[in-house]
Amino acid sequence: MTNFTQTLLKWYKINKRDLPFRDTHDAYRIWLSEIIFQQTRISQGLAYYEKFIKRFPTPLALAKAKEDEVLKLWQGLGYYSRARNLHAAAKSMKGKFPTTYDGVRALKGVGDYTAAAICSMAYNMPYAVVDGNVYRVLSRVFGVQTPIDTTEGKKEFTALAQKLLDKEFPGDFNQAIMDFGAMVCTPQTPRCKECPLAQKCVARRENCVDKLPVKAQKTKVSERFFHYIYVEQGGYTWLHKRGAGDIWQNLYELPLVETAKGGVLTKKPAWCGRAKLTPVGGPIKHVLSHRIIWAQLYRVVLPPAAKVPTEFLRVNNTALEKYAVPRLVQKLLERI
Ligand code: ADE
Repeated sequence: MTNFTQTLLKWYKINKRDLPFRDTHDAYRIWLSEIIFQQTRISQGLAYYEKFIKRFPTPLALAKAKEDEVLKLWQGLGYYSRARNLHAAAKSMKGKFPTTYDGVRALKGVGDYTAAAICSMAYNMPYAVVDGNVYRVLSRVFGVQTPIDTTEGKKEFTALAQKLLDKEFPGDFNQAIMDFGAMVCTPQTPRCKECPLAQKCVARRENCVDKLPVKAQKTKVSERFFHYIYVEQGGYTWLHKRGAGDIWQNLYELPLVETAKGGVLTKKPAWCGRAKLTPVGGPIKHVLSHRIIWAQLYRVVLPPAAKVPTEFLRVNNTALEKYAVPRLVQKLLERI
């Protein structure tokens, strides 16, 4: 075992976080937790994990659910394709979670990271995980400057992680490096003074901790301009189910007009008829991983006889909370 591995595992024994999916080898539970925690901080995801396990204790229970219910439970977590893939994968496994690496890797939504996490933690198989924590810890400790968003970088870091992996306790090693990245070797202001690896850390010695890991490309962020319209029609409002090929697939939202530029909406949709659109509050800035959405809410009062266009669903206001909506829409609805 390498010195790095020994030091890391010793640190983990003392400092490991007490997480509910750490006292099990149940692959289903580990899969669920890894999908939830992949792009979500542990503190944010824990309540969702508990909720999901309670409602869907087995793959079969999840497979039998309606997608709308799965998305509703996922509401607020973001990256909703995770929930859709989770549901599709549960349906595909016919009640039995796969027991081989290839079987696990073939599940919808399971990539190299998740397959390695599940197989090491549930089945004790020797696969090293490579996630953002691993890139950060390894690039700093070993002074690796290869950009992490390139094929070459991915290969190099995977090989290094695989070499360092404790083959006897791969699950502990993988979770140790992730906890270490989340608790000590953090993206901003890492705790180098408390770090048991500081002695051997190349980045620290060369004073470039804040320059690592290296990324070849900056994340491109584009702006979009959304105008959401809250329809008041007696005790009812209108919703729209978003389709494929864009963000928030299969989630619900208010009727939307998207414009190429910011500013007030100058053209009402035809279905508003003569009714007046009234802005409600100012624009909201909503930041996603690759997008900034500027959203403005309007209210319109329509007569009971106004026809509901086929793309909309007329929903009783009391039933509105049953629909899974993106956090942005939830925030706007709170203004009503
Ligand atoms: N992040 C995602 N999965 C994790 C795990 N099993 N341990 C620590 N951090 C994680």
